[in-house]
Amino acid sequence: MPNKILLLDSDQTTVAWFKGKLENQGFSVDTADLGAVALRKIAAAPPDLLVLDRVLPDIDGIEVIRRVRSDPHSSRIAIIVLSALSRPDVLTACLNAGANRYVVKRPGADVELIAKTRALLSQPKSLSTRRGRIVAFCSAKGGSGTTSLCINTADALIKAHPGADIVVVDMVFPMGTVGTALGFESSKTVAKLSQEKTIDHVMIESYVSHPVRWGFRVLLGAKDPQEAGTLDVTKVQLIFETLQIAHDYILVDLGRTLSRISLPILEMSSNIIIVVTPDIATVKTTRFLIQYLESHGIDRERLVVVNNRTVGRVWTTIEDMAHELGIAPKFTVPYLLEHMTMAINEAVPFIEKFPEDSALMTFNDIARFLYTSIR
Ligand SMILES: Nc1ncnc2c1ncn2[C@@H]1O[C@H](COP(=O)(O)OP(=O)(O)OP(=O)(O)O)[C@@H](O)[C@H]1O
Ligand SMILES: [Mg+2]
Repeated sequence: MPNKILLLDSDQTTVAWFKGKLENQGFSVDTADLGAVALRKIAAAPPDLLVLDRVLPDIDGIEVIRRVRSDPHSSRIAIIVLSALSRPDVLTACLNAGANRYVVKRPGADVELIAKTRALLSQPKSLSTRRGRIVAFCSAKGGSGTTSLCINTADALIKAHPGADIVVVDMVFPMGTVGTALGFESSKTVAKLSQEKTIDHVMIESYVSHPVRWGFRVLLGAKDPQEAGTLDVTKVQLIFETLQIAHDYILVDLGRTLSRISLPILEMSSNIIIVVTPDIATVKTTRFLIQYLESHGIDRERLVVVNNRTVGRVWTTIEDMAHELGIAPKFTVPYLLEHMTMAINEAVPFIEKFPEDSALMTFNDIARFLYTSIR
């Protein structure tokens, strides 16, 4: 059975254009030109997705969203706002009312709408009615494998869910290595974005790139330490809130930067992956990291400890690690010899270079966990 979409817009040209585009993709599309008509149709038979304009002749689009969300028969349907308005306050108001995604009417909006429709409808309902999920990757010690795990988890996630819209953001300042690990360079960075006069959905999307060879998108932190110094920290939260509108998953490499930059992101994260290597010094430092997070009100349920065996020898057992940290490692990435470094040096997904390696299972397990864990 094709997914049912209700398209609510008073402009007949818009309706005809998007209806045709969605039907070409195999969706079954019904239409309404007034809010009251749409609400009647939804009450009679709720669609899987409501696509609506923000401005309607009879009821305010936001009011339509509220009513749909407050009725138990329709509260779980996916909602995308399709509007000519791109102001951040409009976007935020729609999301706060319960919309899942926002697409600005402009050239290419049909492609964006189809991608978001697919992503929303391919997710379990409990996930699709939420905003994009932020997953932070951090560690207490440099070189623990944070970047390697972040990009290879993103790779596993996109391979398991090709319809999902995933963006990896490098928030390691002054110099991150996500770009190098992906074989990708860009002058469109978070630091530069933070200096833009208007930071809205349209602006942010113009900064998010698609590196060749990787299925997810990426936003780098800064092109050099000098540019990193220009990062306006006060804009970080707005940038991530806006990223949540357009993407299903925002995987953030925080490295070991525990600072004013990372705190708002950690607070917004659904899950925080803490990468630990099995040596006593790292485990002890990680305990302080966990205490720091807890002292900022971040509850333990969000924390996921990953034991990454970057070296051959193990200096401490899983049991000791669990005892010291108060949280048992949920996943263990095996020691991958020089293979991980070879994959990173060639800027390819680990799994494409070593498809037989058992690490595939761990990356898939982490991806599955992130996909299904609901907060
Ligand atoms: N499980 C593993 N087995 C073997 N080598 C690994 C493993 N995980 C990561 N590595 C290697 O360890 C090194 C450090 O990894 P990575 O750069 O991902 O760490 P990081 O925590 O991001 O470091 P930084 O502090 O520089 O940001 C890299 O050379 C990487 O290839
Ligand atoms: Mg790193």
